[in-house]
Amino acid sequence: MSLPPPAEAGIALEDVDTPALILEMEPFERNLRRMTDSLKESGVALRPHAKSHKCPEIALRQLALGAVGVCCQKVTEAEALVAGGVGDVLIANQVVGERKLRRLVELAQRARLAVCADHPVNVAALAAAATAAGARLDVLVELDVGAGRCGAPPAAAAELAQQVAASPGLRFAGLQAYQGAAQHLRSEAERAAAIDRAVAAVQETTALLAAHGIECERVTGGGTGTYLLEAASGVYTEVQPGSYALMDADYGRNEPAPAATLAFEQSLFVLATVMSRPAPRRAVLDAGLKALATDSGLPLVDALEGVRYVKATDEHGVLEIDPSAAAPMLGDKLRLVPGHCDPTVNLHDWIVCVRGGRVEALWRVAARGAVF
Ligand SMILES: Cc1ncc(COP(=O)(O)O)c(C=O)c1O
Repeated sequence: MSLPPPAEAGIALEDVDTPALILEMEPFERNLRRMTDSLKESGVALRPHAKSHKCPEIALRQLALGAVGVCCQKVTEAEALVAGGVGDVLIANQVVGERKLRRLVELAQRARLAVCADHPVNVAALAAAATAAGARLDVLVELDVGAGRCGAPPAAAAELAQQVAASPGLRFAGLQAYQGAAQHLRSEAERAAAIDRAVAAVQETTALLAAHGIECERVTGGGTGTYLLEAASGVYTEVQPGSYALMDADYGRNEPAPAATLAFEQSLFVLATVMSRPAPRRAVLDAGLKALATDSGLPLVDALEGVRYVKATDEHGVLEIDPSAAAPMLGDKLRLVPGHCDPTVNLHDWIVCVRGGRVEALWRVAARGAVF
């Protein structure tokens, strides 16, 4: 059974059923324009990460404002984006396993697709899948630039690039150099130091590639916290910020930077209803762990002084109310700022687009649950 959306276009925000994912269109549109404007002078391409929103409607708006394509993390995410009209997708991640590789090369015949690799066994498997399907696949070698997640160190990355370049069915398309651990470092100085180290690792690798006569046409990386640093490095050719379109409470905790990063506004909220008022200082919302991700902290209550979201259980969110605060009443609807936008979006089927207090449109989170 496919469940009905929590709203219809035209109704007032107060009438939206809850918990619901709300996108305030005005700040959202300003965020998209700000991102495009902030890169105008740099000559660096924008390839937003669509794992934040998982929504082709949003990807198409990013492309209309000059993005060269989008990133995603999973083959099924790429399938959902391509089905929604996106023609150029980088899977900024490793794809391992025969079934996934078959889907990957099938999709590569229908859209401009690229994928990352950081291990020789995976490169061989990519080449086997591509040649079996008669496809040609763009492969970026992922470099570990300090995040301690995926990625090979410079010397191994240069060897992998040689392997890719020599593999039938594959084309070496550049380096993926994303420093995920730098995005939420709170001060600009810490972020800058981390990206300096990332840039040095990229330079070391491109020098090794050049020594082997391999051209590196693309260096891609950077998120909402650091993308201006990568863009100014003279080394990165493309940046991959994702959260900037929606934002979240955790990005809100980054110290103000002189750059435009923190000019991005909160556009994503979870609308929740007060479902119980069991005590004068306590209210309970209908939005708990199944409506909000809490990996980066609990949500913030928007525009209500002295009211804090203090505990999330499966279907409940407990609010603590200061004695001096205007206490919410049973049935009131409150807007919450999620701690982390990406996994929060993945808990919802629909994005309820709101402008001026009215529902303007409903966009499907088409890649919700696309984790294969
Ligand atoms: C490979 C990669 N690129 C870009 C991003 C975008 O980062 P953000 O959403 O912080 O802008 C992520 C996020 O985790 C990522 O994993």
